[in-house]
Amino acid sequence: MTQVVDEDFEASLTRRLAVIEEELVKAAVADSPFVTEAARHIIDAGGKRFRPLLVNLGSHFGGEADETDLVRAALVVELTHVASLYHDDVMDDADLRRGAPSANRRWDNSIAILVGDYLFARASTTVADLGTDYVRLQAETFARLVQGQIAETRGPQAGDDPLEHYLQVVADKTGSLIATSAVFGGMVAGAPQQVLDALSAFGEEIGVVFQLSDDIIDITSNVTGKTPGTDLREGIPTLPTLMLKASIDPADAELQQMVAGDLSDDDRLARTLEALRAHPVIERARAEVQRHADLALAHLEPLPEGPAKDALAKVCNDLVSRSN
Ligand code: FPP
Ligand code: MG
Ligand code: MG
Repeated sequence: MTQVVDEDFEASLTRRLAVIEEELVKAAVADSPFVTEAARHIIDAGGKRFRPLLVNLGSHFGGEADETDLVRAALVVELTHVASLYHDDVMDDADLRRGAPSANRRWDNSIAILVGDYLFARASTTVADLGTDYVRLQAETFARLVQGQIAETRGPQAGDDPLEHYLQVVADKTGSLIATSAVFGGMVAGAPQQVLDALSAFGEEIGVVFQLSDDIIDITSNVTGKTPGTDLREGIPTLPTLMLKASIDPADAELQQMVAGDLSDDDRLARTLEALRAHPVIERARAEVQRHADLALAHLEPLPEGPAKDALAKVCNDLVSRSN
C-alpha cells in the first residue's frame, strides 16, 4: 500500500480538516437551541469526514487553493451528506447511526426529516458564497442523490437487470456526492477540465467501492455503529444478496428463501445473517469491490504524481480493506 511521506502535505491536511470540523459544528447553529442540538446530533456522533478529505486532496491538482473557499466546499459536501443521513435513517427505519440512536429514534420521523432539510439549507447558503458553477454542480448532485434514492425505493422495474439497477443506484446515491467532493477541490484550485474529469471519474468509482463495501459490512460486521443486517431486514437488495439471488445452485435454495422472507423477527434475521456470513457469495462480492477499486485507480493515471495522488490511491485501497 502506498505511504504518504510528505510531512508538509500531511500537516496542512490535518490542520485544514480540523478547521473544517470546527466550521461544521458552527454551521449547524440555528435560531433555537433545540434545532441546534438536533442538527448537531449526527455531526457530533463523529464520522470519517471522507468527503472533506476528498475536497482537500482534489485541491492539490491545480494552483494555490483559497483556504476560505476550500473550507466552504468541504462544508457543502459534508452538510449535504449529513442531511441525507437524517432522511436516509427515516426511510430505512434505522435505530442507530454512528453508534448513537438515529434522529428518528431519539426524536421522531418529522423532526429527522426537517433537521435534514435544515442542514441542506445550511449547505445551500454556503454554496451560494462559492458561486454559480458550484451551485449548479451541487444542484445536479442533489438531483442524482434523490433519483438514486427513489430508484432504490422503487426497486428494479420490468426489464431492468437487478444488478445493473443496483449499481446505478449506488453510483447515484453515493458516487455522485463523492465525485463532486473531489471536483470541488479541483475547482477551488482552478484545475483544468481534464483534471476535473479525472477527479470526477475517480470519485464516482470510489463512491461505488465505498457503498459496495458498506453493503457487505452491513452483513459481516457487528462494530459499525449501525445495526447489522439493516438492509437485509428492510429487504433492500445489495451486492451479496443479489449475487445469491442469481445463483442457480440448488444448495443455495434454502438461504435464497430465508433472504427473500420476512426478516422482521430478530432471531430469523440473526440466523440469516450467520448463514450469509459463511457463504462464498461474500468473497465473490469482495472480489467485485476490488474490481471497482482497480477501475478507480485507473482514473488516477492522468493526474500528476505527488503526495495527493498517493493519498487518493491510499483512500481507495483502504476502502477495499475496511471492515467496519
Ligand atoms: C445511505 O445509504 C444514503 C445515501 C447515500 C443517500 C440518501 C439520499 C437521500 C436521502 C436524498 C438526499 C437528501 C438530502 C436532504 C440531501 P444506505 O442506507 O445504504 O447507507 P447506511 O448504511 O449508511 O444507512
Ligand atoms: Mg441507511
Ligand atoms: Mg438507505
